[in-house]
This record gives sequence, C-alpha cells and structure tokens, in this order.
Amino acid sequence: MAKKNIAVLVSGGGTNLQSLLDSQEKGMFGESRITCVVSSKPGVYALQRAKQHGVDAFVLARGDYPDIAAYSKALADFLSGRQIDLVVLAGFLTIFDEQMFERFPYRILNIHPALIPSFCGKGYYGLHVHEAALAKGVKVSGATVHFVTPECDAGPIVLQKAVEVREDDTPESLQKRIMEQAEWILLPEAVRLFCEDRITVKDGRTYIQ
Ligand code: GAR
Repeated sequence: MAKKNIAVLVSGGGTNLQSLLDSQEKGMFGESRITCVVSSKPGVYALQRAKQHGVDAFVLARGDYPDIAAYSKALADFLSGRQIDLVVLAGFLTIFDEQMFERFPYRILNIHPALIPSFCGKGYYGLHVHEAALAKGVKVSGATVHFVTPECDAGPIVLQKAVEVREDDTPESLQKRIMEQAEWILLPEAVRLFCEDRITVKDGRTYIQ
C-alpha cells in the first residue's frame, strides 16, 4: 500500500475539506497525505482551513484563463507537477474538461449532495441540488461519492448514503443534514478506501474489497 499524495480542490467554505483534514489527523489515511489544496476562487474560507492545518494552499482562478481547455491544462499540469496520486473535489464548482480525466483516470473523486442519478449534472450544485429535491418532494435524498469521468456526475459510484427529507425542510436545513449525516462521513471513507487500494473499477462500476 503505497503512500499517496492527495490534492483537495475547493471553491467555497470547505466543510468537506475540514472533514478530510480532521480524518487525516486521526490517522485515517495511513501514510498518505493531503499535500495541497487548490481553490478556483480567491479569498474563500477553505484556503484558511488549509493554512491552519499547515497544508499548502493555492488559487487557480478560472477567470485567469481564456477558456475551459486552457484552465483544465493548467490545473492538470499543476497537479502533475506536485506528483498528485488522488484528486478530491470537495465542493469544487468549476467545470474542467477531459484533459483532467486523461491525466488522472479513476483518480479523481467527487462528492455530490444527492443520490446520483437524481438531481445531478449541469446546473446541479450547492443549494440548487436541495431546491430541486424539495421541489420534487422526494422523501429521501443523500450524498454520493463517485469517480469523475468526462461526463458530468456520471462516473462510477463509490459510496452513497441516504438521508431523510422532512416536510418542513428548507434548502439550507436539508443541505446541513446531508452534510452532517452523509457528506462528512462518506468523503473521508472513500479517500481511505482509495488510499488502501481497495477500489477497483470494471465496466463502469466500482468494487470494494
Ligand atoms: C457540498 O455540499 C458539496 O457536496 C457540494 O458543494 C458543497 C460544498 O460545501 N458540491 C456540489 O454541489 C458539486 N456538484 P463545502 O465547501 O462546505 O465542502
């Protein structure tokens, strides 16, 4: 079980990043380490969380690149240059293209705040996901960790957890319960499984030993 270098990509508050930093400090990832945090936006709180834990933090802003292809290449080059083995999207809300998948095939994990294939794909991010779930009136929602492939939110599913939806939920209260009961547990668990080389992908599905 080789030690892995992990990069966590963020765009906002970084509560999922926090769950990963806390899990690492408890020894959950063995010898593997979060060696950098990259934000697609300057000034977000996730950058401070990284610095508080002594992790190198960088901003690679989408607005500094002419198009998605140029941004994706810069991101892939940056991560390759730091010998990254696993890329974790923890509330990373900037789109990149297939260059990232080609450089890191089945080595990018994403957390999505719904039970894929519901409420996912283009436009479904952050609170919009929970607004859509409440508008549909689903009785359960939850979170999904999956590998990133070129098609948005369609890669092999690694872990899922269901969470009850209440009749008096607002998008904010549902988001909070899904984070607390699912996201902050599932994402570190998926990273641990990856670090222990326990996830295999075959025919678009994952198998966990
Ligand atoms: C989380 O709920 C995450 O699942 C979601 O953004 C939030 C980020 O919160 N991601 C997506 O919607 C991706 N499509 P955080 O910055 O506190 O971790």
